[in-house]
Amino acid sequence: MSDVHVYPVKPEIAAHAHINRETYQALYQRSLAEPEAFWAEQAERFLNWDRRWDRVSDYDFETANIRWFEGGRLNVSVNCLDRHLETRGDQVAIIWEGDDPAQDKKLTYRELYDQVCRFANVLKAQGVEKGDRVCIYLPMIMEAAVAMLACTRIGAVHSVVFGGFSAEALKDRILDCGCKYLVCADEGYRGGKVVPIKANVDKAAEHCPLLEKIIVVQNSGGKIAWQEGRDLWYHEAMAAASADCPPVPMDAEDPLFILYTSGSTGKPKGMLHTTGGYLLYAAITHKYVFDYQDGDIYWCTADIGWVTGHSYVIYGPLCNGATTLMFEGIPTYPGPDRFWRVVDKHKVNIFYTAPTAIRALMAQGDHYVTETSRQSLRILGSVGEPINPEAWEWYYHVVGDGSRPIMDTWWQTETGGILITPLPGAIDLKPGSATLPFFGIKPEILDANNQILEGECEGVLVIARSWPGQSRGIYGDHQLFIDTYFSKAPGFYYSGDGAKRDADGYYWITGRIDDVINVSGHRMGTAEIESALVLHELVAEAAVVGYPHHIKGQGIYAYVTLNAGVEPSEQLRKELDDLVRKEIGPIAHPDIIQWAPSLPKTRSGKIMRRILRKVAAGELDNLGDTSTLADPSVVQNIIDHRIVKT
Ligand code: WTA
Repeated sequence: MSDVHVYPVKPEIAAHAHINRETYQALYQRSLAEPEAFWAEQAERFLNWDRRWDRVSDYDFETANIRWFEGGRLNVSVNCLDRHLETRGDQVAIIWEGDDPAQDKKLTYRELYDQVCRFANVLKAQGVEKGDRVCIYLPMIMEAAVAMLACTRIGAVHSVVFGGFSAEALKDRILDCGCKYLVCADEGYRGGKVVPIKANVDKAAEHCPLLEKIIVVQNSGGKIAWQEGRDLWYHEAMAAASADCPPVPMDAEDPLFILYTSGSTGKPKGMLHTTGGYLLYAAITHKYVFDYQDGDIYWCTADIGWVTGHSYVIYGPLCNGATTLMFEGIPTYPGPDRFWRVVDKHKVNIFYTAPTAIRALMAQGDHYVTETSRQSLRILGSVGEPINPEAWEWYYHVVGDGSRPIMDTWWQTETGGILITPLPGAIDLKPGSATLPFFGIKPEILDANNQILEGECEGVLVIARSWPGQSRGIYGDHQLFIDTYFSKAPGFYYSGDGAKRDADGYYWITGRIDDVINVSGHRMGTAEIESALVLHELVAEAAVVGYPHHIKGQGIYAYVTLNAGVEPSEQLRKELDDLVRKEIGPIAHPDIIQWAPSLPKTRSGKIMRRILRKVAAGELDNLGDTSTLADPSVVQNIIDHRIVKT
């Protein structure tokens, strides 16, 4: 990697940054040498507690019992709202920018506080109690933030489901954590199109006998079905609700939310995050990674349906008293200049997005960017998948005019917040590298035998110690939590990502080493897509792999074996595509379906995905060892019928 260009820290940024080179080194050393003292100090600095903790941390990576700030009591909504009222009650908390560029709204901290208290009372009036799970299935509208914070006020546990998931996917998530309550909208908007939110809820609800109440935000005013006694309007309930709602003090380890994410096997897992450690970690990373300064306008483009939306649209920024922008739309509507128009309109200082968006906009041409000002920008960020150096350079030189540092942040739903990242005033940048660990994070790279590698190396990325934001479990299945993250490399948190470390100690994430794929920054399990495909009565078997895609990062390549005697057809291809959209959502539909008379298998009957991945990627002269194949001729057939699309 000797030809890598290094972009040094900019002196003008370092001069005013919270963390500079020296403080990074000193604090990082201290965070590892004296973790208890370090995190206790941060917990005091970043959060208001009703009761101080008895013990900073207590964890065991064998039983996967992880506890932070035990005995401490606090309320998340108080930390995100009440405590800011005196000093910044009239400061804008959330700027909302609609899908339609003519639509925007602002809520001050006081207004947001008022709405959250009212909605917390609405939830209580419907019977929601501390510990109850509340499903939130909303587009990117203010009410989504209100609903999340209202849950935290009364100790309800939210489970936000991405508005782009299908009725079927929604149903699975409602059932898995036993939600009795759901908050949704009539319809949403994305890129000028209407999304049928309530209609999906109605379909899902048919199979969710426990679901008692559905609170509906009137967003589009479109016609929807209504079930008296079960459904109620958000605006009507809010108008009748009191704005006085005392917060429920929570234990630091009380559950805060569940968020489903994909793994390599079976159904999505409900990752559980708890109150104190999560909030602290979201807040400290938000402040230092983006060098958030008072008065900054901060915009993270993620949807609240993903962890990035939880930690870096809502909890981190609001805990820090920031002004956070929520965007309902997509990067290319009404035109590919939308992001930069929004930056200029709201004078955004910090902008955090995904590589897939950068690549999509890069393909549209520089003029969409260069005809906007973007002078307000100071810091840029990237998250969700590896950013290829070409996209990084474009982001840096064209969007950032060569003067804004890019924070390439590596983390996961399970980690709660950013683990490996540059800091604007402290760490030199290398395009394509997430650079160095955040405070308290001790990454290691292991070889195939779980041995720790030193110096320059490549292997599996694991984390050697707990940090406050770490997930505490998989809802309802602690054994699966242990098996997935703590038994593959005993003594470590197993990330499922591969990584390289260079001579400067910089980390370069190489991507997933399991059957998880990352399509347009959306994390998906290939097993989920396969399960959807085999639901079709004419399908005998299916294998799904990722392949390199110039915009999405990875595309979805499905090999499908039909039942004996069934002829493939375009009609059938469409039916399979529709089936995946129905079972999971449009984001999971296959880019390529190749008909395969049979799939390459070992003699014991295991599908050899390694070979399928190579064929899909076009790495045909490098198929590796095929000697264990039951029938080597199968591979030739697959190669001969390979479909190329990028
Ligand atoms: C990938 C999103 C490279 C990685 C926050 C991880 C990244 C998965 C980066 C988690 C990055 C995320 N560079 N890869 N900066 N950020 N990833 O749970 O494979 O939706 O395991 O969390 O995204 O996806 P998740």
